[in-house]
Amino acid sequence: MPIVESPVIAYTGQAFYLRTAHTAYVIGLTEHGGLLHRYFGPVLSRAEDYPTPNWGIVDASGEYPTPTGMWQVAPCIRVVFHDNVRDLRLRYQGHEISASGDELAIRLHDEHYGLEVTLCYHVYADCDVIARQVRLRNTGADAIDVEEVMSASFSLPYDRGGEFRLNHFAGAWMKEKTLGRQVVTPGQKVLQSWTNSTSHQQNPFFAIDVIDAEGNGATEEHGEIWFGQVHWSGNWKIVVEQLRGHHKITRVAAGLNDLDCILHLAPGEDFTTPLVTLGYTDGGFGAMSRLLHRYQRAHILPRNHADELRPVLYNSWEAVMFDVSEDAQARMAEKAAQLGVELFVIDDGWFGARNTDNAGLGDWYPNPEKFPNGLNPLIDRVNALGMDFGIWVEPEMVNPDSDLYRAHPDWVYHFPTRESTLLRTQLMLNFAREDVREYIFNSLDTLLSEHNIRYIKWDFNRTISEPGWPEAPRERQREMWVRHYEGLYGILDRLRARHPQVLFESCAGGGGRVDLGAFTHYDDCWTSDNSDPYDRLFIQRSFMLAYTAKVMRCWVTETSMHEGASYSLAFRFHSAFMGSLGLGGNLLHFSEEEMAEMARNVALYKELRPLIQHGEMYRLIPLSRMDRIAVEYVDPQGSEALVLAFGTQENFWENPVRLCLRGLDPQALYRLEGDLDEGQPESMSGQALMHRGILPRLYGHIASALIRVRKA
Ligand code: DGJ
Repeated sequence: MPIVESPVIAYTGQAFYLRTAHTAYVIGLTEHGGLLHRYFGPVLSRAEDYPTPNWGIVDASGEYPTPTGMWQVAPCIRVVFHDNVRDLRLRYQGHEISASGDELAIRLHDEHYGLEVTLCYHVYADCDVIARQVRLRNTGADAIDVEEVMSASFSLPYDRGGEFRLNHFAGAWMKEKTLGRQVVTPGQKVLQSWTNSTSHQQNPFFAIDVIDAEGNGATEEHGEIWFGQVHWSGNWKIVVEQLRGHHKITRVAAGLNDLDCILHLAPGEDFTTPLVTLGYTDGGFGAMSRLLHRYQRAHILPRNHADELRPVLYNSWEAVMFDVSEDAQARMAEKAAQLGVELFVIDDGWFGARNTDNAGLGDWYPNPEKFPNGLNPLIDRVNALGMDFGIWVEPEMVNPDSDLYRAHPDWVYHFPTRESTLLRTQLMLNFAREDVREYIFNSLDTLLSEHNIRYIKWDFNRTISEPGWPEAPRERQREMWVRHYEGLYGILDRLRARHPQVLFESCAGGGGRVDLGAFTHYDDCWTSDNSDPYDRLFIQRSFMLAYTAKVMRCWVTETSMHEGASYSLAFRFHSAFMGSLGLGGNLLHFSEEEMAEMARNVALYKELRPLIQHGEMYRLIPLSRMDRIAVEYVDPQGSEALVLAFGTQENFWENPVRLCLRGLDPQALYRLEGDLDEGQPESMSGQALMHRGILPRLYGHIASALIRVRKA
């Protein structure tokens, strides 16, 4: 029986078939009401072609393993019933397929205790991904403590030959999204955050490819990859586990981090986990990135601004730090307007008693010395220059030296018998508390209602310590890990509904809050506090492995992290052109000539912006290469492309690297313009551009080339 065309979801009595444009996901239903993960890979033409797990792997192939009977596989859910029983026996109860045909809910039930566990699947056929989550409902008469509840798990095929390789992000503040790669070996590899933020160190994204017998893994264009992302900005966990039974089985589970977190489900109560998106491609890392980029633009980013191009912004942080004032900012705004900037953002330092990071967080009203007449005179001046106005806030934090903390010292996470640990002289507000949420919502609502503000940069500059919520009933206190994010996302939803004209930027000391939960509520992000244009090449290239260029804010500044390094303005702009452009230097430092060059680059970016922010991105040089980076952005019709190429070493007497373009119309003739090496033709067919390629002009240790390719 073919289950290949529509519907996207089909049920046969023994199995559920979920189908995207190119992939299939099959869940088997056993005669005892258990669920087996049967298949996740390319679409096959007949239902009979999808494998059924053989006896050697059946134990390890649960679609959602529970601690039942023999505890063989790491469970996705752990609960404690009122009588201290921790054995969970889930049986199939029923299922629903939505009227739209793309959502499936499979209801499982522990009959004895009345716990309902619903596995939810949303098929995004156009993007070849499936988003999953789990709904719990206590239908029994007694409370249940949930010690762990993952959103999704699946097993990789055990019969591919070769080894699996895990690709993920590692890193640190100023060094976000370094690519980590290792062969999966028996045992568990856990990627996670327990900082109450997405974190700089790890990111809720994984991609697993196959290393063949000769040691080769997937490339940019070929090879199988299973990948996923957790939609959560708090503590998350991705477990890659390899078990040895009769076969070597590799499993992945993803969702909330169970560390220190216990959810209390009273009778009648329910809980829904964050989403986890899963995908498969046999088109290599390039195809994976493009699927994820398309998915984020089409389905994840807040709908009201999803189709708009992100404005070119100016941000004052690196120029003046906390030293903001009406006149100084207005002088900078005049310069920014001359450059063609569309959005002027004032960063930290404008509020409360804020002159350093020691004071003021929590007091979201203008500093009376810096802004004696409030913010409106500055906003009016910015608007009169033709720019929108944006502002920085850090709403989840408070300095002990603030009016807010003096009035409400109990509004921070704390343990009453322990001294609270300060980081950047600040504490974390308890967003699990309703009164705190209300206060912060009202402060920001007032700020947005009383001012013509179009952009909020929402920062988060410390990790958690003393995660106590002593005012809550004892059985609820350890829920704060999820309640914090219900609070944060809830406030953002309410602010967005009341102020739909405002764009929100996610920032956490640079790129510490980059995940699909954030991008469901924020329109873009601050990629890294490291704005050195050379370092940024590597951060940005990896960032785009998993996230679209549209959300990746890149500023042109005066920063050089490396002693003696001096970068041309062209190099700085080309590096920042990889994502959403911003300017961040002190504009009073630039000569007239430099200002003119900057204005030309801003104008050029605006022309190229639709390609960069909405086009398809191809890495023309593999991720592993450190001396050369090249990315291409091409519009979906293949009529125009942009190539940004970078050399980070001279490569004296080395053969040059020819770039074979992608996504063009082979029959069409294209005009080439920009930094081409000597002797390169001015026009070429799409076929030649994709097969013979072009040579960019890249000489010197730090070189960049920008090449435009347009249908003649
Ligand atoms: C950290 C951010 O990443 C910076 O861009 C800046 O906004 C500072 N915080 C301000 O305190």
